[in-house]
Amino acid sequence: MTNAVGIDELSVYVPRLFLPAAGEFSTSRGIDPAKLIHGIGIERMAVPDAHEDAATMAAMSLLDLMRRANLRPEDIGKIYVGTESAVDEAKAIGTYVIGMLEQIYGKGSFQDCQTVEFKSACISTTQALEALSYSVAADEDGRAGIAIASDVAKYPLRSPGEYTQGAGSVSLLIKKNPRLVALEQIYGTFTRDENDFFRPIGDVTAVVNGKHSNQCYLDAMQGAFDAFARKARDKGIIKPEGGYCVTDFCAHLLFHIPYPRMVEYASAAIFRHDWRGLPRWKDIEAEVGPEPQAEACESAGQFQEADADFAKRFARSKQFLQAFSTKVKDTTIISRQVGNIYTGSIYLGLASLIESQKILPGERLCFGAYGSGCSALVFSGIVQSCATDVPLRQICKKLEERVQISLKDYEKLHEGKMEKSIIPPSEEFALVKIDNQGYRHYNYAN
Ligand code: CAA
Repeated sequence: MTNAVGIDELSVYVPRLFLPAAGEFSTSRGIDPAKLIHGIGIERMAVPDAHEDAATMAAMSLLDLMRRANLRPEDIGKIYVGTESAVDEAKAIGTYVIGMLEQIYGKGSFQDCQTVEFKSACISTTQALEALSYSVAADEDGRAGIAIASDVAKYPLRSPGEYTQGAGSVSLLIKKNPRLVALEQIYGTFTRDENDFFRPIGDVTAVVNGKHSNQCYLDAMQGAFDAFARKARDKGIIKPEGGYCVTDFCAHLLFHIPYPRMVEYASAAIFRHDWRGLPRWKDIEAEVGPEPQAEACESAGQFQEADADFAKRFARSKQFLQAFSTKVKDTTIISRQVGNIYTGSIYLGLASLIESQKILPGERLCFGAYGSGCSALVFSGIVQSCATDVPLRQICKKLEERVQISLKDYEKLHEGKMEKSIIPPSEEFALVKIDNQGYRHYNYAN
């Protein structure tokens, strides 16, 4: 692909504190640790320290990205930040981020750079990436775009969402002739008004209708996948025939990861949908039993029950387990150690594949982003020939070096009652004060 636009570099920031799912936390909440580790898929939750918020984490991942890619502020035309943990109702988080970066690169060094905050729950960074892909392709001013995801995933203490929490930021460098992934510029979308997950103004934690949110995710993903498949066929980019289907042309499927098990539910729904009617479907039904048909059921409720039961059996079929293990499972490596980082979680999936060296030049990656409320966006990209030459980030090693905190400290941090940082800030951006007008003051601590 000549002059393609895509992801040239990626950088991840995760707070240095973590709380293990098994141990004090599972005991105090009366939950079998096996449920958290296997049923949900979480081993550790990243916890932001007292001096951290979505803005400091965004500044940290951006600083790392700039250093890794040898970027100067004048090389960057746009910094779009996706977040649902905004630090202000009006002021764009990117202005705080630029303020922090200018402490390193000099006052005014980013004044020629645009910044916009994207809010659309967990899909916002992907929408930012899509917008940047068009403006970078149009070569508006020849400069690169940066999409930053930064979030603190926070639910009420002792709620079922609590064990999916996490925090972190991912920065993506969007350029022409990218070194990592060239986007194929096919975007399949789905949008519907839903009450699955939202955070009313003034609330610090999300309101979530848990099981309903899972169903909204699956419905939206399927809708966006169909739109993507249609466009890919129309453009002649993916032409499945002779017993093949769209997912056969994708080496990896990267879904939004609110918790790792959700990726298993999502991929089972998409493979089932994509494989139905193909010659292989006969073998699957022979193995797990026939797929229930609505017309044959006495009521909608009976069909729902039979369908949920079939979904579980399908997820244990040989063909699904094989596809899941080669195309999906490895996207959750980092998320298991971090938890949900909302809008950046799908890119933790990309980082997981890159850091574990699971992607190869020429492979097609199919991304399925989801944002509550709700929307999904499915798009694809091709791994570039020099992708495997880009130095790794040692993310897993850094995650191992984090500091474990007690349940008591976690709860104090959660409730905003921790006055001092557990680890005093060093070589990082820190929130030092919120003044009496509500303006936030950040410093780079040497
Ligand atoms: N050992 C092993 N597994 C066990 C177990 C045990 N002792 N006990 C239970 N499990 C398994 C269950 O069988 C189940 O697995 P299967 O689906 O294969 O049967 C799994 O653990 C999950 O258990 P539950 O169904 O009981 O789930 P839950 O009541 O704990 O709630 C949740 C899960 C609804 C996701 C809840 O954590 C929640 O509300 N989370 C926040 C919302 C969320 O993440 N929604 C996802 C879609 S929305 C989105 O994606 C946007 C976003 O980022 C928020």
